[in-house]
Amino acid sequence: MILTLPKWFDLHTHFRQGPAMASYIKAHLHMGCAGALAMPNTQPPVSRISGAAQADGWSIEGYSAELRAAGAAAFEQLIVPLYLTRQTTAAMIREGAAAGLLRACKYYPPHGTTNAEHGLPMDDLIGGEVLHAMEELGIVLCIHGEQHALTGPDYLDAQQNAETHFYRERMPRLLDAHPRLRIVCEHITTRTAAEFVAAAPEHVGATITPQHLLFTLGHLIQGLKYHLYCLPVVKFEDDRMALRQAAMEEGQRRFFAGTDSAPHTTKATACGCAAGCFTGGCAPQLYAMAFEDAGVDLGTGYGRARFERFLCLNGPAFYSFPASPQRFQMEKAPSQTPLLETPAGPVTPLPTGLDLELTWRMVG
Ligand code: DOR
Ligand code: ZN
Repeated sequence: MILTLPKWFDLHTHFRQGPAMASYIKAHLHMGCAGALAMPNTQPPVSRISGAAQADGWSIEGYSAELRAAGAAAFEQLIVPLYLTRQTTAAMIREGAAAGLLRACKYYPPHGTTNAEHGLPMDDLIGGEVLHAMEELGIVLCIHGEQHALTGPDYLDAQQNAETHFYRERMPRLLDAHPRLRIVCEHITTRTAAEFVAAAPEHVGATITPQHLLFTLGHLIQGLKYHLYCLPVVKFEDDRMALRQAAMEEGQRRFFAGTDSAPHTTKATACGCAAGCFTGGCAPQLYAMAFEDAGVDLGTGYGRARFERFLCLNGPAFYSFPASPQRFQMEKAPSQTPLLETPAGPVTPLPTGLDLELTWRMVG
């Protein structure tokens, strides 16, 4: 069986900084990816609109130029969101929108994940001038939806976790205060978040990663498969079922691909584990495996249409750019994604880290 699809868009990925960027971008181009939203949690963060890089931050203009020089010029679309920090002002939002450089901003909960130390509490943003300016100008807010500073059972337990706290307590307040704000709930992992998005107005959407559609906490814990460790962490079977239902429902327009592919050259550290799954080179294959695992037959027009909607069509429609006119192909055949050698060191892709055989292969 061969699937021919429009090239797809990865609306949440990490290309980092420095000489390894080119390797990460190449891996994305090799998997039929036509464009990306490249996250701003670089070192230093992408926290300004224009101008040369400074010690405390890149600008969207400067980081985008670096990405293009490293290979991203081949993409049809490249979106770099602005990292929301305490220094972000409404004037910056206006400047970015007027210059055509700003299409999205990224919210990180302070210290909530890799390079999230520049983030601020959501409560400090709600009702403020920055979100009002974004709302007025149609700038998308990309949200890492986990409540910060929780520990122990508040952070993760059977009935609650940092994400459910955020979607139950912060998101309703955010929507009340900013009813027209365009929002992407990034890498959702729970039934609570999936149901929140499904019930929210049309201008609220969500990305879902391949790992959260395929795996649960048991897969991570059994053998401590740390290549599957990302944030928000994979959750329970009921959550996976809700994510699958949201992504695979016929005609749905709100849920789309965003891999959160996050390369780390050192995963296991002396005092823990870096958060992030690297799926460069294998994300469409993993998404296809998740759809099939959930019972979607990709050999039928019906199954294929659902997959195409999630992978290739909904993201562009949500971000208001055209779907790709180009095509890529995948074949139902076993394959492997090799270790990625980069100037920063080797990066292990998720299937290798989990000793998982891909059942789909890129053609060409
Ligand atoms: O697992 C993650 N890795 N989650 C994030 O939010 C950030 C990412 C990274 O940059 O490594
Ligand atoms: Zn991410």
